[in-house]
Amino acid sequence: MADILTLDHLRVAFDVQGHRVDAVSDASIRVPDGGSVGLVGESGSGKSTLARTLMGLLTTPPAVLEAKSFAVEGQSLQIGDHAAISRLRGNTFAMVFQDPLSYLNPLMRVGRQIEEAVRLHDGRAAVHHRISELLDLVHLPQRVARSYPHELSGGMRQRALLAIALACRPRLLLADEPTTALDVTTQMEILALLRELRRELGMALLLISHDLVSVAELCDEVYVMYGGRTIEHGPCREIFRSPSHAYTKSLLDAARAQRSGRKVLETRPGALSVGG
Ligand SMILES: Nc1ncnc2c1ncn2[C@@H]1O[C@H](COP(=O)(O)OP(=O)(O)OP(=O)(O)O)[C@@H](O)[C@H]1O
Ligand SMILES: [Mg+2]
Repeated sequence: MADILTLDHLRVAFDVQGHRVDAVSDASIRVPDGGSVGLVGESGSGKSTLARTLMGLLTTPPAVLEAKSFAVEGQSLQIGDHAAISRLRGNTFAMVFQDPLSYLNPLMRVGRQIEEAVRLHDGRAAVHHRISELLDLVHLPQRVARSYPHELSGGMRQRALLAIALACRPRLLLADEPTTALDVTTQMEILALLRELRRELGMALLLISHDLVSVAELCDEVYVMYGGRTIEHGPCREIFRSPSHAYTKSLLDAARAQRSGRKVLETRPGALSVGG
């Protein structure tokens, strides 16, 4: 399978008042076209910085970016070339974040925000039909188009953000902790929706998460990040069964301990369990 995204040896540093802070020191990642890849690691390991770099969202300076190679759909790009990346953003890839409220305009009805995204990417679209289609796709009732973000629950806001992201029919969705701020039941619903969207749209997924169970449920492959480096990579099944890096082992032990303490997530038939 061809890769939709390849990134080799990424380094990202920030110039903070004359001091250099290394956020990502050596990260490499590949996402196969239509595939699902997880990126896990402890807080501060550089996951969001990597995602924001891919989306061309870091301002240079203060960010200093370097990569041996970076390609999207086989097209080679300069890592800091924001103009080229912004042309792809919204056409080839889109992103959803942990806190949808920060990315939704509080003063604009949800329907208008979806409409803006639709118009931006497809000037000739039958806009109202497309808005309705997108709401259906993320299982939001049509009335949500007339709601303001503060009138929605956290799960509904994340669905609204997904509808905006999907407006451009992305080939790759980057999801940075899309369920971390939600309660467990809503988390499961959003994960099920992501799985369904992937299946229906044939879209690739890069899922950033603290939660190994989510990654095991949704992703074929996983990358583990530690201290700004991608230290381990492979099929989820293999990595979770026999992690080779001590850090990955401790991440799995922590997930198991948390899981046996809470006993909230049951294993689905056929799905991989990190509960051992
Ligand atoms: N704009 C910035 N300026 C300076 N340092 C930054 C900036 N953004 C991120 N960093 C630093 O880069 C490192 C990686 O941060 P990042 O947010 O990518 O981690 P993360 O793995 O996404 O963590 P979390 O799981 O908590 O979201 C951290 O040490 C952080 O303080
Ligand atoms: Mg983060």
